[in-house]
Amino acid sequence: MIILGIETSCDETAAAVVDVTRQRVVVLSNVINSQIRIHKRYGGIVPEVAAREHVKNIIPIIARSLAKTNVAKEEIGLIAVTRGSGLVTSLMVGLEAAKALAFALNKPIVDVNHMAGHAFSWFLPRSAKAEKAKVRDITFPFLSLLVSGGHTELVLVKGFGRYKVLGKTLDDASGEAFDKVAKMLNLGFPGGPAIARAAEKGNASAFSLPRPMIHSGDLNFSFAGLKTAVLYADKRHIMKTEKYRADMAASFQEAVVELLVEKTVRAAKKYKVKQIAVAGGVSANKRLKQIMKKRIQDDFSDMKLFFPLPEYTGDNAAMIALAGYMKYEEARSIIRTPKTFESRDYMKWQADPNMRLAD
Ligand code: KG4
Ligand code: ZN
Repeated sequence: MIILGIETSCDETAAAVVDVTRQRVVVLSNVINSQIRIHKRYGGIVPEVAAREHVKNIIPIIARSLAKTNVAKEEIGLIAVTRGSGLVTSLMVGLEAAKALAFALNKPIVDVNHMAGHAFSWFLPRSAKAEKAKVRDITFPFLSLLVSGGHTELVLVKGFGRYKVLGKTLDDASGEAFDKVAKMLNLGFPGGPAIARAAEKGNASAFSLPRPMIHSGDLNFSFAGLKTAVLYADKRHIMKTEKYRADMAASFQEAVVELLVEKTVRAAKKYKVKQIAVAGGVSANKRLKQIMKKRIQDDFSDMKLFFPLPEYTGDNAAMIALAGYMKYEEARSIIRTPKTFESRDYMKWQADPNMRLAD
C-alpha cells in the first residue's frame, strides 16, 4: 500500500511517500521544507509566520514528494496526516490540505498523533537508498523516550495505538530548555544543535549545575530549575568569552543528558522492558546517544537500544505515514472496513493542539 504522509505541526512543511508491501517498508520520498532560516531572525518560532509559510508551501511540497517517485496520485492507498499536537494554525494547514486531497481523490484518510509518529520513527529505513525494513521486526512492548521541542516523556508502547505515559516533564520540554539556554548564551536558534556544537570544545564539569528531580522516585522530569541555574550563573559571569560559553553549553548539556538517561534506565528497570527507542529532535544529540549507550551496556545484559536515522530525528512526514499505516491496519484488523477513515466523517476533524497519546 502506498501512503502519503503530511506533517505541518510546527515549522516544517513535510510530505512523504511510503510503500508498505507484504510487511516491507520503503520510504520512496521524504521532503521537508524547514522554516528555520525565517524564524532565526526572531530567535524562536512565530506561529503566525509559520502558518503563512505552510500555506505557501504545502501544495508544492506534496507535489514534490510525489514527483520524486513513480507514484501517480491514483495509486495512493491512504493519506496520513498529523492532527495534533502542535501549533494549531500550523496543524490546520496540513490537515485541511489532507482532507481536501482525500475528498478529491476519494481515498481513505487517517489522523495521526505527532508523538506516535516520533515513537515509531526509529524504525524507518533510509530514504535516499530505498532501503527496506520489515514491519514484523517491531516487537512490543518497547520503552520510548520522546524528546522534542514541545515534549519530554517516557512512554511504554504496548502495541500500535496502545501507549502508557510513564512520566513527563512538569515544566519545559528538553528541546525547549536547549533553545532557551542557547538564547541566553547568544548561541543562536535552534538551540539544540548550537549548544551541542559549542559543547564539543567545552568542559562539562566547569559549572556545577543542578539535576532537578533526579532522585524524585517517579519518572517525571523538570528542566525549569536547571535553566534558571544557568541564567543566574550567566548573570554572575562578566567575561562572556568563547571558552565560557563552550563550558556552560557542555555543563548544561551534561545535566540534561544525565536527567534523561537516569529516568529512562529507571523506567526500563521498573517495567522490565527489553527494548528502548529514543526519538524526537533531541535524539539527534550525540552526547545523549553516547551516554545512553554506555549506561545501557553497564546496567543491562540484553537490552536493545534504537535511535532514528538523522533524517528522522526532527519533524518529518515519513514517520506520520508509517504511524498512520499502523493505525489504519490496526483498525482494519478489528473492523474490516474502518468507516471512520473511509466515510466522509473526516470532514469534521479539527486540529488538536493538545492531542494526547491515549493510555
Ligand atoms: O522533534 P522536533 O524537530 O520538533 C518538535 O516536535 O518539537 O524537535 C525540535 C527540538 C528543538 O528544541 C531543537 O533545539 C532540538 O529538538 N534539537 C536538539 C538537537 N537537534 C535538535 N537538541 C539537542 N541536541 C541536538 N543535536
Ligand atoms: Zn516533533
